[in-house]
Amino acid sequence: MVVSGKTRVYGVIGDPIEHTLSPVMHNAAFEALKLDCVFLAFKVKSAEVGNAISGMRAFNIQGLNVTMPHKETVIKHLDEIDPTARFLNAVNTIQNKNGKLLGFNTDGVGALKALRANQVDPKDKKVLLLGAGGAARAVAYSLSQEVGELVILNRTPKPAEELASFLKKTSNKKITVGLLSPETIETNLAETNILINATSIGMKPNADQSPIKAEWLRRNLAVMDIVYNPVETKLAKNAKAAKATVVSGIEMLIYQGAASFEIWTSCKAPVEVMRKAALNNLKKV
Ligand SMILES: NC(=O)c1ccc[n+]([C@@H]2O[C@H](COP(=O)([O-])OP(=O)(O)OC[C@H]3O[C@@H](n4cnc5c(N)ncnc54)[C@H](OP(=O)(O)O)[C@@H]3O)[C@@H](O)[C@H]2O)c1
Repeated sequence: MVVSGKTRVYGVIGDPIEHTLSPVMHNAAFEALKLDCVFLAFKVKSAEVGNAISGMRAFNIQGLNVTMPHKETVIKHLDEIDPTARFLNAVNTIQNKNGKLLGFNTDGVGALKALRANQVDPKDKKVLLLGAGGAARAVAYSLSQEVGELVILNRTPKPAEELASFLKKTSNKKITVGLLSPETIETNLAETNILINATSIGMKPNADQSPIKAEWLRRNLAVMDIVYNPVETKLAKNAKAAKATVVSGIEMLIYQGAASFEIWTSCKAPVEVMRKAALNNLKKV
């Protein structure tokens, strides 16, 4: 890669940011498509989000990904917010369109594309979603237009109830909520077609944990664990052993990144290149 005075700059802001996979994925994609662009990671403290966005304008940075903990606070510094990001109150992608900063959220569409790319179609299916945090909201929103039925279970009732009442404003599908407990999981799992873990259970350093008992998993079930660190979670391992269809969190990460890439460049994202770059980097870590 040769960086010149004409090179367009992209990046990701967050705190912490050291473990982000976005630079390796996007730089590999730029290189594969021979685009004169570079992608950097910027550690931005919460108190500096406004200054970072002013910097984006001043340096004419063409696009930014936004990760924890800035997805909500960045909104007030942008010029226009896409309806999905507005609904979710979370922006993970900023496009600099001729000086105007536009906010998007590609997490939900990333999850949907990851499912479909792995031959799991949520259309008219019963989906059991564990979690009601930021990522779960995005996943639930995109699924709520597709599924037959959506059940949301969360450790804390309030966020799940708020999410369901939000979703009911734009979806006429059956959406119910419950407490995340062994009993509610087991009861709901019986008729579930697709199980999605959108809690952080199983994420390093707690990689020995799973929200689901191994014996509840079965062949005619699709399981997506959005946790991607470790690449293969305990839930994913157990699901594979039970011969369920497994979609890893890396797939969602890649497709949300691909959706950001397409917003920025208007080019079709080289998904295979991005997947290879992300997996190679994770192996090194
Ligand atoms: N693959 C991807 O592209 C992608 C994208 C975004 C996030 N993620 C991953 O998704 C996970 C969640 O991220 P997030 O941004 O949604 O986080 P978040 O907003 O902090 O939400 C965390 C969720 O996990 C639940 N939870 C946490 N610890 C729990 C425990 N011990 N028992 C039961 N429930 C627990 C929380 O329940 P309470 O409401 O009760 O606290 C909440 O529903 C993280 O592992 C993150 O890395 C993946």
